[in-house]
Amino acid sequence: MAIRNIVCYPDPLLRKKCEEITAIDDEIKRLGEDMLDTMYEKKGIGLAAPQVGVIKRLITVDISGPEKRENPFVMVNPEIVEKKGETEGEEGCLSLPGFKGKVKRAAAVKVRYLDLDGEEHLVDADELFAICLQHEIDHLDGKLIIDYAGRLKKKMYENKLKKLQKHRAR
Ligand code: NI
Repeated sequence: MAIRNIVCYPDPLLRKKCEEITAIDDEIKRLGEDMLDTMYEKKGIGLAAPQVGVIKRLITVDISGPEKRENPFVMVNPEIVEKKGETEGEEGCLSLPGFKGKVKRAAAVKVRYLDLDGEEHLVDADELFAICLQHEIDHLDGKLIIDYAGRLKKKMYENKLKKLQKHRAR
C-alpha cells in the first residue's frame, strides 16, 4: 500500500471524463487500496481516482472518518440510478485546499457499483453519505465543487492560489 499524491486545482487532469473500468485486475485493486490509505492519510471522507491522477471510474468513501475507519467503500464504476429530494450544505475537497462552498445536491441517492471482487451492489444513501457519493461521482465527470460557486467566489479563490504559489516559489 502506498500514499499517492493529490492532484490539485487547476490541474486539467481533474477536468477529464473518466473511463469505465472493464477489468478489475491487480492494478485496479492496488489503486483502490492506495486510494483508501491516501484518503485516510489526508483526512478526507471521500476520494476519486482523478484526484490521484488516474482517469478511471473508481471512488473511495468512508463517512466514519480517518480516525474510526469503520465503513470503507471502494466503488468501481459507481452510477447514480435514483435521486430523491434536495439538500444544500458546505463542502470541501482535497483537490481544492482552502476552498469551501455551498452545493445543492439530492438528499438521497441509490448508487450501483462493483466492489473489488467484481460483485455488483446497490446502496441506498442519505445525509452525509449521499452528499459524499454525489461529490465523488461528480469528480469522475470532471466536475468540481468550485463549479457550483459564483464567479466572484471562484475568482477570489484563484487569486488566493496565485498568492500561495508565489509564496512557495520564493
Ligand atoms: Ni473532491
